[in-house]
Amino acid sequence: MNITVRVWRQKNADDKGRMVTYGVENVSEHMSFLEMLDVLNEQLTLAGDDPIAFDHDCREGICGMCGVVINGIAHGPEVTTTCQLHMRSFEDGAVIDVEPWRAGAFPVVKDLVVDRSAFDRIIQAGGYISAPTGTAPEAHSVPVPKKDADAAFDAATCIGCGACVAACPNGSAMLFTAAKVSHLGLLPQGQPERDARVLRMVGQQDAEDFGGCTNIGECSFACPKGISMETISRLNHDLLGALRAGARPKS
Ligand code: SF4
Ligand code: FES
Repeated sequence: MNITVRVWRQKNADDKGRMVTYGVENVSEHMSFLEMLDVLNEQLTLAGDDPIAFDHDCREGICGMCGVVINGIAHGPEVTTTCQLHMRSFEDGAVIDVEPWRAGAFPVVKDLVVDRSAFDRIIQAGGYISAPTGTAPEAHSVPVPKKDADAAFDAATCIGCGACVAACPNGSAMLFTAAKVSHLGLLPQGQPERDARVLRMVGQQDAEDFGGCTNIGECSFACPKGISMETISRLNHDLLGALRAGARPKS
């Protein structure tokens, strides 16, 4: 395949940035989208140009590091991570626009790399349990209803990629925060801090530059792990419960 990519180039956080057009030839349909960018970067490097900066790590859909907006869609045309998207999803001769996540809370660092440390701060605010865990407990020594175990596992599959924020017209982080609140709040080990956790994590989310949730649902549509809107309902249920109980976010 021979394709044209129009990539967002931005030297640093202060640079205004612009789209730059490149041709890439002999792209295999079996290449991942990131491998196509590797080929383009080799081309740029050999020509003495600055390669395109983009985030990646596992390239297996696990770590959540990768993520760009492709033709206006977070992670591109398939429901998967950018690293698991393959060039067979595009036509020969395609013109593909590649941009970083666009959200106030995710400022651009360089080219396609954004600063997602706001997510880290939400996790730090309450995404943990303080129960001593010790060695691995005997299986089934803490009974968990199958329904709760399945819902907790589904929420725990969130890889923190940020596509939900990029896809949301409000730039809201509700789906991410709800997933992190849920996967602990559904399990027995997460109960002692359940009220304080939801207050602290939602409080931190509000303190960052994320928008509010208006139930549009683009987040869930873009999520490569299929985190559902039901997760947000669960967060709201927990939040109201904590507020009604008069809970306070403990420091
Ligand atoms: S909820 Fe989905 S889209 Fe949002 S950070 Fe988690 S895995 Fe990514
Ligand atoms: S590089 Fe790890 S999920 Fe894409």
